[in-house]
Amino acid sequence: MTQNSDKKKLVALVSGGGSNLAAITERIDGGDINGEVVAVISSNAEAFALTRARERGIPAYVCARKDYENNEARDREILRIVREHNADYILLAGYLGIISPFLIDAYPYKIVNIHPALLPKFGGKGFFGIHVHEAVIAAGEKESGATVHFVDSGTDTGLIIAQRSLKVLEEDTPHSLQQRILSNIEHKLFPEVVRALCNNEIKVENGKVIFKDGNFK
Ligand code: GAR
Repeated sequence: MTQNSDKKKLVALVSGGGSNLAAITERIDGGDINGEVVAVISSNAEAFALTRARERGIPAYVCARKDYENNEARDREILRIVREHNADYILLAGYLGIISPFLIDAYPYKIVNIHPALLPKFGGKGFFGIHVHEAVIAAGEKESGATVHFVDSGTDTGLIIAQRSLKVLEEDTPHSLQQRILSNIEHKLFPEVVRALCNNEIKVENGKVIFKDGNFK
C-alpha cells in the first residue's frame, strides 16, 4: 500500500509514444508505487506522451534541443522545472536527448533510464528506439531484452539496476522484437524499479547498486 505522506515525486522525460510512462502511471493508479508523476518534459512537441500527460492533468512541458544554444542550456531549463516540482527522481521514459553533466551532477543517482537492449551490448551513440532492435537482428543475437540503469556522463554506461531478457525468435523483425520487449519486459521492469526506488529499496554504495533485500526480484 502507498503511504501518501512520503510519496516520491517523479519527473518523466520523454520523446515519443510514452508507453513506459503509461505503464508507470497505471501502477501508480493501482497503488503499487508510492510516488506520483508531477511533471512530464518532452524533447519533442509532437510526442504522444505529452497528450497522455495532459489527459491525466500532469503539467507537461516541451524542451526541444533546437530552442536552446546547447545541451547544457536546455538542461538548465529542465533542472528549473524539476526543482520547481521538487522531484525526487527523474525518469527517462523513452527520452532520446543526451543529458549533460550539468544535470547529472545536480541529481546524482537520481536519474534513471530504460534502454531496450541488454547493456552493455547495443548501447551508446546511435542506439535508440528501433535502431537498437535492427542492430540486434542484424547481429543474429539469440537473446535481447531491456536494462534499467542510473544515468552517468556516458551514453548508456551508468550503473545497471536491473535487466531482463527474452529469446529472439527466427521470425522476429525489428518491429516485432521491439513490441515484444516493450510489452513483456519494459512495461513491467521499469515500474518495478520505480516501485523499489520509491520505497527506498535501492541505493548506491561504493559504486555498486545495493538492494534492500539482497537482490532485485
Ligand atoms: C522504449 O523502447 C525505450 O526503451 C526506448 O525508446 C522506447 C520508447 O517507447 N528508449 C531508448 O531507446 C533510449 N535509448 P515509449 O515512448 O512508448 O515508452
